[in-house]
Amino acid sequence: MNTAPAAVPAFDVARIRTDFPILGQQVHGKPLVYLDNAATAQKPKAVLDCIAHVYGEDYANVHRGVHTLSQRATELFEGAREKVQRHLNARHSHEIVFTRGTTEAINLVAQSYGRPRFKAGDEILITAMEHHSNIVPWQMLCEQTGAVLKVVPIDRTGTLELDRFEALLSNRTRLLAVAHMSNALGTINPVETLIEQAHRRGVPVLVDGAQAIPHMAVDVQALDCDFYAFSGHKLYGPAGIGILYGKEELLNKMPPYQGGGDMIRRVTFEKTEYNTLPYKFEAGTPSIVDAIALGAAIDYVNGIGMETIAGHEQRLLAYATEQALRIPGLELFGQAAEKGAILSFTLHRIHPHDIGTILDHLGIAIRAGHHCAMPVMDFFGIPATARASFGLYNTFEEVDALIAGIHKVIEVFG
Ligand code: ALA
Repeated sequence: MNTAPAAVPAFDVARIRTDFPILGQQVHGKPLVYLDNAATAQKPKAVLDCIAHVYGEDYANVHRGVHTLSQRATELFEGAREKVQRHLNARHSHEIVFTRGTTEAINLVAQSYGRPRFKAGDEILITAMEHHSNIVPWQMLCEQTGAVLKVVPIDRTGTLELDRFEALLSNRTRLLAVAHMSNALGTINPVETLIEQAHRRGVPVLVDGAQAIPHMAVDVQALDCDFYAFSGHKLYGPAGIGILYGKEELLNKMPPYQGGGDMIRRVTFEKTEYNTLPYKFEAGTPSIVDAIALGAAIDYVNGIGMETIAGHEQRLLAYATEQALRIPGLELFGQAAEKGAILSFTLHRIHPHDIGTILDHLGIAIRAGHHCAMPVMDFFGIPATARASFGLYNTFEEVDALIAGIHKVIEVFG
C-alpha cells in the first residue's frame, strides 16, 4: 500500500488544513482553533485512511503467520520501521524499536541500560526543564541502584546554564538524559554540543525528542546521540506508538525490557534464548496498525518538508510572541534564543485554568496546568501556565483569535 501523499508544491496552509478533517468543526459555535499541539497533534487524512485501509484489507498479526495477510501486515510493519529509520537517518533499521511512546522508550533505557550497570554513587544527569517522563524513570532507577540524580539548572529565560552543565559532568556521570525541546517553555537545547561534551567524558546520551520531532529534521548520526525517543501522536501519527532509537552496539548489550512472545528465539523451562534486534525489545503483539500509520505520518510531513514546517511555525511563533508581549499583565515563560513554537504564559492574577476555560468557549484549545513539568513551575514560582502550542496547520488568523481571546479573558476578569 502506498501511503505517500500527493506532493505539496509550496506551503499552502489553507490547502494543508483540508487534509485534517477535525479542523473543520465548530466548538461552542466558533471555528475550532487548535493550539494544543504540544500535548498531541491532529491527524491528516493520509493517517486516518491508512488506519482504515490496513484494518480493512491488510490486517493480521506480524512475524507469526505463513499466510498472505500476515505477510502483508509484516511487510507494512517492517516498512514503517524503515521509514522511521530514514526519517531519523539511523544507520540500521534494527536500531529502531517500536514502543508505546516516549515514556516507555525512556523507561526501557532506564531499566535495560541503567539498572544492570549503575551502582551507588553513580550519577545520572538531567536538566531542570525535563518533562516528568524524563525525570521519574531516573528517580526510580536511583532508588533501585543507589545512583544519584543531578540536575543542570536553567536561567530565567528558560535557557540551560551551559557552564553549570560542564561543572556537573563528572567522572561519576553515567548518563545524560536531556530534552531536545522543552514542552513547558519551548527551549531548544544545544543537544549537539551537550552530546559532544558528554562523549568526551565517555558519557552516553539519551535525547527526549517528544517535542522536537514534529518541528525539525532530526539526524541521529549527525547528533551522534546514543538513544533518541519520540512519540507518534505528536508527529501527526497515532497515539500508543513511539520509537526508541538506540545505537546497535548499546542495544545489543542490553537485556530485554519485557518478556513474552516475539522477543524470543527459543524457550525451554530451563532457559530462554532472546531474539535479535529489534525484536528483543518488542515483547507481545505490537501496535501493528499504529506503527504502519506512523509511517504514513512520516510520509505526510516529509511530503511538506521539515524545513518548510519549521519555517512556518517560526513565523507563527514570532508573530504570536510580538502580539502577546504587548498585552498588559501577560508574562511569558520561556524566552530562550532557540525556541520552538510554544507560548507559555500567565495573566496577572487570572488562573491558567480560567484562561483555558474562557478560550475554550471561544473555540480555542490550549493547555493549562503544569504540563507534566512541575519542577519548571517551581523554578518560576508559579503553579501553572496557559500554553498555546502551534503545529503545521496553524494560521496567523488563529494567532489573532488567540490574542483577541486573551483580551476577552482580561475583560471578563476586569
Ligand atoms: N507532554 C505533553 C504536553 O506537554 C502531554 O502537553
